[in-house]
Order: sequence, then structure tokens, then C-alpha cells
Amino acid sequence: MNNDLLLSMEKSIPGRGSQVIPALEAPAYPLPETFCRKAPPMLPELAETDVDRHYTALAQRAYGVNCGFYPLGSCTMKYNPAVNEAAARQPGFMGAHPLAPAHAVQGCHAVITELSAALCEIAGMDAFTLQPAAGAQGEFFGMLCVKRYHEARGESHRVRMLVPDSAHGTNPASAAIAGFTVVNVPSRADGLVDTDALRGLLDENTAGMMMTNPNTLGLFEKDILDISRMVHQAGGLMYYDGANLNAILGQARPGDMGFDVTHFNLHKTFSTPHGGGGPGSGPVGVKRALVPYLPTVASLGAKDGLQLKAFHGNFGIMVRALAYIKALGRDALSDVATHAVLNANYLMHRLTNAGYTPAIATRCMHEFVLTLEGIKAETGVSALDVAKSMIDYGMHPPTMYFPLIVHEALMFEPTETETRETLDHVADVMIAILAQTRTDPAAMHTAPHTAVIGRPDDVKAARTPVLHW
Ligand SMILES: Cc1ncc(COP(=O)(O)O)c(C=O)c1O
Repeated sequence: MNNDLLLSMEKSIPGRGSQVIPALEAPAYPLPETFCRKAPPMLPELAETDVDRHYTALAQRAYGVNCGFYPLGSCTMKYNPAVNEAAARQPGFMGAHPLAPAHAVQGCHAVITELSAALCEIAGMDAFTLQPAAGAQGEFFGMLCVKRYHEARGESHRVRMLVPDSAHGTNPASAAIAGFTVVNVPSRADGLVDTDALRGLLDENTAGMMMTNPNTLGLFEKDILDISRMVHQAGGLMYYDGANLNAILGQARPGDMGFDVTHFNLHKTFSTPHGGGGPGSGPVGVKRALVPYLPTVASLGAKDGLQLKAFHGNFGIMVRALAYIKALGRDALSDVATHAVLNANYLMHRLTNAGYTPAIATRCMHEFVLTLEGIKAETGVSALDVAKSMIDYGMHPPTMYFPLIVHEALMFEPTETETRETLDHVADVMIAILAQTRTDPAAMHTAPHTAVIGRPDDVKAARTPVLHW
């Protein structure tokens, strides 16, 4: 077997090791028998050099924004300024104990208060909780807020949550877990919510509607004010999935579009390295009427109410977000959206000019979706084959097969932090790949040819992961 694929346990040689632990100088403290191991722990036995090489090889195999282009649509894989990392690692923040008395952690409290205020202003909301640990947890909590609001008004019969068919999968999942019945709202041929269909779906049992704007096709829902008005007139509340905030940051506010509840993904828009299931932060903002349903923080003495996550949430991410917001300031924050939209349109224009087909042929916001349905019919090369071929050119593939309403979808989100030269290089690579779909399609079915692992069974990896040796 390729040595690169071996686990450290498989490389282990009994008796091999490094004596790095100094001999005990203090008197030994005999542990009670019940706390002692019956057998020595099963640990890999390796020379220090081999341990070092093992982890260095693993680290080199990981791909991040700091390695190259990472256009994972809907994920906003933008550059995270290193200075924000330095801010989060200051000992006063990193070493703060969550149960420290308030007077000892005033700096941390200031971060929380200032960040909440900044998010309120950016969102057009009245209050924020920073507790949720991810966008999906924010959605779930937002749904609980909507539920409690209706219950408190004696309207528990409002159980229907409207979700567009273009929505991210976490939207219907969060609504369903919170106890709502998910109602699918179709999109029109132009990719936007079908407002006529929506009108027909609203009734006295409507609890609300979940939307992201721009939507997952990268298109701005220009009827949003009409949509909010219709849902409000039916007695429902509007939930904003803020995963796509990068497109409108500082330019438009969910609160002004008629949304009552929103979550933001701090790990996307506000500069925290993410991906691979790392820590996230999905603060939820609400309008005044929903403030009573925000979660409480037990460590601050709250006795009842909902606690979503231990203590205040993922604090390090809050420090990074506040550092990012303060470093950019109001004007540069809105430049983020302008440049993200410009970059996406530039790349889309180059790719469509070269022969790729956009899912919807119109200007996009911060991301765009291609459909490779025609290429597949003509050459047999699928969206997956094209995405895998990009790896051989040293770049991360875009999001594949999402949104579900587009066949053979590839969704590109270049973000504002890529230069024109990088975008031109990406376009040139995509043009070379397009040519290969006609000249050598067979080779593309087995791409990538340069990666240690090429085509894992991702369904099996997600459903039945083997996490132990
Ligand atoms: C549109 C959209 N909504 C919600 C989410 C969920 O966010 P998280 O991954 O932080 O749970 C995502 C994540 O990719 C997303 O793209």
C-alpha cells in the first residue's frame, strides 16, 4: 500500500519511540486502583522524525484558501486576514475562562456587546444572540423563535413554513426539526420565487417563510418587498438565511427587506477559516417583537429560557469578526459586496463566452451556477468529471449538484479577495477543460490523476465513517 495512505498506527513498530518525557523528579502519587489502566494505551510507536513527517504530509495534503483558488459556491471561502487571527489569539481572549467573574473579563464582554451592535446595524435588526455555533443552528433557533412568537399570541395552529425550492437543504431541515410542516415554493423560469404560486400557498396556518437573498442561484430576489408584505399580511414572519450576506454587505439590509429574523454565518462573511466541519458561528438577529425569545446565558445567572450552546458561543470567531468589521469600517465593508459581485460576473462572463452555459442567463450577484447538462449529453462528461479535473490544475472544485433545481450544476463563488489575474487563470483552466471534454473525455472520468485519493465514496464516508483504528 502507498505509504502516504497509512495511518500512524499502521506505521507503528513495537519498541520504536522517542524518550521525550523526563524522569519523574517529584514523589510519585499512587492513584486509586479504579483509576488505573489495566493495560498500556494502544499508541503508535514511531521515531520522532516519522511522526513529524506523518503530520507534515497530512498538513500538505489539506487544501485551504491559503493554497489557491477555492470557489466553493455558497460557502464564501474568502481570504481571512491573518491580523484577525492574531487578535483572537491574544492571551486575554484565548485564556479567558467562561466562568470568570464579570469584572475580570470586561474586554470579552465589550467584544460581545460591540459585535452585537455592529451586526444589528448591518442587519437592520434590534437585537442579536451570538450563541449559535453554525448557520444551521441559527436557523433552527430562528425557527424556535418564530414558533414561540406564534404560541405566545395563541396562534399555535400556524405550522406551515414556506421554503423556496432553491433553498439550501438546512432550511427545510431546520424548519422540520423545529416542528413546522415544510411547504415548497416553486421558482419561476427566471430563477426567482414564483410570487403567484406563493400567494396561493399562504393561509391562516402560515407560520412564515425562509429565504436567502440573493438566492442560491446567485440572483437577487427583486420582489422581496412584495413577498415580505404578502407573508406579513397572512400573519407569518420572514426568516433571512444570511449565508449569502457577502453579496449585499453594507449595501442592503435584511431588516429593510422585511425580514423579522436572520442569521449570519460569521465564519463565511466575517473572516474565520472554515470548512471541514471546523468551528462556526451563526448569530441570530431579531426585530423587537421577538427579543423576548432570545436565548439566555446560564453562566450569567439566567435560570430559565433556552440555552443553545455552552456559555456565549464560539468566542474566538466573534473576536475575528469584530476585528474584521473594525478594520474595514463602513465604506470598505460595502466594497466587499461590490467586489464580490464584480468578480463573480467577470468570471461568469468569461466562462459563458467560452461556451459554458449559465443556469440562468442574466447578471449574477456574488456567485453563479453553470449547467453542464448539454456538455454531458454531447460528450458524456459530467459536472463531477469537470470538478474533479480542476483538482489536476491545482484548484479546489466549485460546489457541485446544488441547487437541486439545476441539472449538472457547478456553482462558483470566487469572492472579493481574488485578483483579476487569478480569475483569468481560472477561466483559462476552465476553457482547457472544456476543450478536453471533446478531445479526451475518457481521461476525465477518472480525474483527478494527481491527488492521493481521487474519488472517495462520499455517501459512504458521510453515512458510515470509520473513525477508529
Ligand atoms: C445558503 C446556505 N444556508 C445555510 C447554510 C448553513 O450554514 P452552516 O454550514 O454554517 O451550518 C449554508 C452552508 O453552506 C448555506 O450555503
